[in-house]
Amino acid sequence: MSGVIGYVGNKAAKPFLLQGLNKLEYRGYDSAGICEFDDQLNVYKTKGRLSELNKIVEDKDLKGTIGIGHTAWVTHGAPTTENAEPQLSSDGSIAVVSDGIIENAQQLKSQLLEAGYSFTSESAAEVIAHLIENNYQADLLQAVQATVKVLQGSYAILVLSAKHPQEIIAAKSESPLVIGIGSNENYCASDVQALLDYTREVYILQDGECARITKDHIELFDQAGFIKDLQTEYIEWDQVQVEKDGYEHFMLKEIHEQPKGVRETIANRLDSSGQLNLAEEIPPELVKGINKIQFIACGTAYHACLYGKYLLEQFLDIPVEAEYASEYRYNRVKADQNTLLIVLSQSGETADTLGAMRVAQDKGARVLAVTNVISSTLAREADAVMLTHAGPEIAVASTKAYTAQLACLCLIAIYISQQLNGVVDQELLTGLRMIPEQIQKVLHDCEPIVQEYANRYATATDAFFLGRGIDYLSAMEGQLKLKETSYIHGEALPGGELKHGTMALIAPGVQVVGLATQKVLLDKIISNLQEVKARGGEILIIAMDQDFDYSNAGNQTIFIPEVHPLLAPMLSVVPMQLLAYYTTKAKGLDVDKPRNLVKSVTVE
Ligand code: G6P
Repeated sequence: MSGVIGYVGNKAAKPFLLQGLNKLEYRGYDSAGICEFDDQLNVYKTKGRLSELNKIVEDKDLKGTIGIGHTAWVTHGAPTTENAEPQLSSDGSIAVVSDGIIENAQQLKSQLLEAGYSFTSESAAEVIAHLIENNYQADLLQAVQATVKVLQGSYAILVLSAKHPQEIIAAKSESPLVIGIGSNENYCASDVQALLDYTREVYILQDGECARITKDHIELFDQAGFIKDLQTEYIEWDQVQVEKDGYEHFMLKEIHEQPKGVRETIANRLDSSGQLNLAEEIPPELVKGINKIQFIACGTAYHACLYGKYLLEQFLDIPVEAEYASEYRYNRVKADQNTLLIVLSQSGETADTLGAMRVAQDKGARVLAVTNVISSTLAREADAVMLTHAGPEIAVASTKAYTAQLACLCLIAIYISQQLNGVVDQELLTGLRMIPEQIQKVLHDCEPIVQEYANRYATATDAFFLGRGIDYLSAMEGQLKLKETSYIHGEALPGGELKHGTMALIAPGVQVVGLATQKVLLDKIISNLQEVKARGGEILIIAMDQDFDYSNAGNQTIFIPEVHPLLAPMLSVVPMQLLAYYTTKAKGLDVDKPRNLVKSVTVE
């Protein structure tokens, strides 16, 4: 996955391009570059981090008032300067930046080689640049339109030509691209976050559309090449919302934003008299007559799906399934028009999640999306959308989006149970209203303890997360957090499964987190933890019942407030998020941008 950015206006493009690329950093990258036009196309690019690019251009007085830029997560070839973008056409007159993956790049390259073109890189953007040159007659837009017709895969591209130095051509299919509308200047970027310092008025380019962007005009064309009305929208997110707000890292800031995220997610959906107001977002017809519910997602969102499945199974008699989207889309999909597919995605752009949803839609399934991004592809393609109001999430490791998803799922489960069975679990609803304050309390009470405890993890190579019932689902999210940020191998297990193999790995000093929030399973998990302790394991217990004696089962116990047992995951995950954060910090690693990972995986 990559990030693209473009500027056309009266000012020098360089500052906007560099700042925009900085805002897109979270998408993950291993090379970066910009191209501006000033009498000619000037390309500056490098492998490595943005700081390297900054070093190359900082002393250069670049005056070009139009330019494009790129942070690349290389999909073809190695992350070298040659493969970095922008890429130029063979005559040097056309520059291209691209996000996504061109599936037929190799085939197109062979055709171009046969036609006499030569290549200096393994980048698909170079293939696109040559194709545009090959298709060019006198109109850049037409050349781009002809080019995208032969591209297979997902892409968002920006094109700049020395022969048309007043315009940028933008085109996309599946990968996101946003146009920002300014005054005497216009912008484009892979993500609205790169634009918020400059404008809130945006147009989100749709699949198959092309736009010609000049400093004072934007022309939009549909797939067939016909001009379309540009209907812009206003983005409410504030730039300060996407900055660190005094926290050292986005991850810590986002962990602390969870009370707000959950509060805003349940606000207006749950009134003070305990009434659920969801019928507008989830029309009763969407759930009427369903005989099966399937959840799909990737990563953290998948763990939220497991919670949704667990909840719905408490209330309904119909089958409820949860599957990784990447598996679902290639398995034998058993969905039809009586299936409700609930799709979870923070970004709403994860390629596997969208792919799986489309497979189920082809089978006739009804789709309810739970996403954090209103303008996302997922939100557009689903039959109904329930937004998580977590606010923009920047750190690669998802935290506040997860708890907001759990809150949404709680509302959804109660609503579906009401629609299908006429039963509303009032106790659960009442409990949910208290969750934001209780997360706040967990943060307040646990953070210093976890911060201190995390020092034990700095030299650990493995950590095991044990739980039973709903606690096991939380354990899965806990191990993912630790793994993705601190690079410590984490593994989640149902407590009872330990003796069937993994116990062999328990030795003095091995780190274990024991989740013990469920009263009915407390004796069972405690006896599992005692077995670990007897073998020298070091155990951090996350518990709810303050009257119980945990001294023989762990080295440290953290208490979450007493809540409805089905709500415990929204609280018990918080100390595990903090554990991942402080361990990663203690190890001096890049908390917000772990190696090899990206925030939003928009290619398969
Ligand atoms: C990436 C991110 C994870 C995220 C997953 C699914 O792997 O690093 O944090 O959980 O994608 O993303 P989504 O936007 O679909 O929730």
